[in-house]
Amino acid sequence: MARTRSTKNPYYNHHFVEISQVKSMKDLEYLFKLAQQLTKLRQTRDTRYRELLKAFTVAVMFYQQSSRTFGSFVSAAQGLGATVIPVHDMAHFSSTAKGENLEDSALTASSSWGADVIVQRHPENTSGTQIVAELGRLQRPTLVVNAGSGTGEHPTQALLDAYTIFNALGRLDHLHIVMVGDMRFGRTVKSLSQLLATVGQGNRITLVAPQGLEMPAENLAVLADKVELKQLNSLSDVSDADVVYWTRVQREWFEKGGQMDFYNQVKDQFILTPAVAAQFSKTAIFMHPLPRVNEIERSLDTDPRALYLTKEMASGLSVRMALLAAMLLEDPFSF
Ligand code: CP
Repeated sequence: MARTRSTKNPYYNHHFVEISQVKSMKDLEYLFKLAQQLTKLRQTRDTRYRELLKAFTVAVMFYQQSSRTFGSFVSAAQGLGATVIPVHDMAHFSSTAKGENLEDSALTASSSWGADVIVQRHPENTSGTQIVAELGRLQRPTLVVNAGSGTGEHPTQALLDAYTIFNALGRLDHLHIVMVGDMRFGRTVKSLSQLLATVGQGNRITLVAPQGLEMPAENLAVLADKVELKQLNSLSDVSDADVVYWTRVQREWFEKGGQMDFYNQVKDQFILTPAVAAQFSKTAIFMHPLPRVNEIERSLDTDPRALYLTKEMASGLSVRMALLAAMLLEDPFSF
């Protein structure tokens, strides 16, 4: 159906399913400014923002496990006054268990629950675009947010990671970003590298992965002409990193593919220990989308460079409040 657009607010009345929708630093700064203002109101217990979304309903539908994304979207939507329908385990507690398909579940949220936004996490890479197409086919006005799709995309994690870097380092350009771990199955690294390559000039990205877990060619192709890109199988020549972004080897995808022997070979190849951390500068920041298994030693949690348990996670709530408000309100600064 035809959607009203806003010339000022690039998120208004748009789905948010792919990080490629953020085209410039200007787009990002719009969201960051809103996130900062909403966070300030929240932290100072100023309740002016609490009714911003009172006219709206948000369905949070997860087909995969989550601690951070699910809870922060529910908190964001409820905090802004929306009616929230949280379903943490669609596979077991919805009619999915009786054979209902993804498209019919999305239409149910739209028509039966009255959802203005569906926030969805799903194991299929195309799940977000599938329900966008179905809602469009039946001319439903409901918007979609991709909260993680398969091994392909996690665009709101990229937003919160970029917000964390911006707040910590004051810029998203001329940075050396070193990403370590599972580049093949990890979705956060794909969305974040694409975002940083798109919005920031002069960035260098180094991807460090065990052999066999390198980033797929289609993702590398998106980065190729935008950043200085290097791929390594060891932690060499990375000591000048501004951002050290560690990730977990994603056991669930090895299980699904019957590759547990391979998982056991690679799972402990890169562990951030105090000795490994010592090679990075005092001004670098350490990030991890979480959950972690054992790839960052707990003794590093109190290192001043470690942001993963503090500012990075806190950014999730800030950015998700801003995104929902910007998608649903033409002028979300109207508080
Ligand atoms: N970073 C992230 O997506 O965490 P959850 O899987 O806990 O939501």
